[in-house]
Amino acid sequence: MVDKFCAKHKIRCLFAFLSSIDYIRWSCDTPQSRTRNSLRNGSVDKFVINGGEPLSGTVTISGAKNAALAFMPATLLAPGRHVLTNTPSLRDITTMGQLLEHMGCGISKAGDSLTIDSSTIHDFAAPYEHVKKMRASIYVLGPLIARYGQARVSLPGGCAWGPRPVNLHIDGLKALGAEIDLDAGYIVAKARRLRGSRIVFDLPSVGATGNVAMAAVLASGTTVIVNAAIEPEITALLEHLVIMGAKINGIGTPHLEIEGVEALTPANAEMIPDRIEAGTFLVAAAICGGKKVRVERCNPHHLSAVLAKLQRTGATLSVGADTIDIEAPTTIHPVDVATAVYPGFPTDMQAQWIALMSVADGQSVVIDSIYSDRFMHVPELNRLGADITMADNVATIRGGAQLQGAKVMSTDLRASASLILAGLAAQGTTEVLRVYHLDRGYEQIEKKLHQLGADIRREKGEDF
Ligand code: EPU
Repeated sequence: MVDKFCAKHKIRCLFAFLSSIDYIRWSCDTPQSRTRNSLRNGSVDKFVINGGEPLSGTVTISGAKNAALAFMPATLLAPGRHVLTNTPSLRDITTMGQLLEHMGCGISKAGDSLTIDSSTIHDFAAPYEHVKKMRASIYVLGPLIARYGQARVSLPGGCAWGPRPVNLHIDGLKALGAEIDLDAGYIVAKARRLRGSRIVFDLPSVGATGNVAMAAVLASGTTVIVNAAIEPEITALLEHLVIMGAKINGIGTPHLEIEGVEALTPANAEMIPDRIEAGTFLVAAAICGGKKVRVERCNPHHLSAVLAKLQRTGATLSVGADTIDIEAPTTIHPVDVATAVYPGFPTDMQAQWIALMSVADGQSVVIDSIYSDRFMHVPELNRLGADITMADNVATIRGGAQLQGAKVMSTDLRASASLILAGLAAQGTTEVLRVYHLDRGYEQIEKKLHQLGADIRREKGEDF
């Protein structure tokens, strides 16, 4: 009897110990906490790159940040335990986890598996402290109103590259019957039960489609969303909502029909591969004169527009079920790009493309029509010797530059990626300062590049 008790007690202690390890990892050893500590010390990490090394070998792509950032708040719709696998270890994922924890969720992480227990929600607010770090925090708005009839979510401000409004989120939720007011910088929303409605988006917003769809799945009656976003992360989210019990027709098309249900049940999910991380490594291979680089565990279908443009630069591509092999062109041909919603060329690859075009053999034009101010990387690329001029949202890149290493400053996630790419192609040493932006969206980028043969290392940055 005593022995049985002791054995049970030991097992319980072991479980408690193992969970505490998970908890410690979640709350302490995260990209965000590393950044926080380094900011507290008055310095931030930097990357030191000695350019000119051709890349070869295999790189494994992590789970998609922008899928995980939508799947995590979706757990609020169905109180209970959800396990999200292939979740990348990134600062943005930690930030979303901390927001959900603040609201009462239990969270633990083991490897790439994130467990969220959403059965203990007691706070329906997303405070400014969380939202200011990451705009995707707005994703809790729809699930909170739909499941709990109330939400108080800080209004996201502008971002580093200009205004990013949330009017479509608010108008869509209002159309479903939510009463929404603004109070001291907060969106304050309440609703008895949302009711289905016809919503026509002016433009196909990723975030507004996700937010409104997450609200509509629990509304009474049918919601029609016209001009919905069809980005793979949204398609994956909608498919997951169906697994949780939602009734949605038209997934993968811009016309969604959602018949509301009374309740959803918790479900586990595997994140799709990060198409922007995959695209960034393909450009890295092209810009460095990569001999044979294999990008594995990716979804080539999600990268059609990027692959078509890469082929026109002269790169040789070979596509498998979940792999892409690339051989860099001897001479990079200039190729124009205009960003567009999926399946067009993604705005999240615009900065990396400009870096590649800087070393192309001729002039090209890159237009960003999704985010017209998203060009903070251009002056920094010019400091490395690129020749780029801007007129509104049009970058004209006179290629053929031999980039020269210099100190450059990261300003946002994709801008930082473009500076690393340029540094890899430059002669001499490039220091990319303030790389905490990269830690928001690229899992261990320096390790993955190093494995491919790049000379890149993370160092303590300078005081500022
Ligand atoms: N827009 C509005 N009103 C709204 C919402 C959007 O005018 O209420 C406009 C935006 O200003 C922009 C366009 O619509 O011009 C598209 O914005 P969207 O809402 O689609 O973007 P998002 O949901 O805020 C997501 C990604 C971004 C990515 C964009 C475009 C997440 C968490 N973020 O943002 O990812 O650039 O879609 O594809 O999914 C990144 O990963 O670096 C990143 C910024």
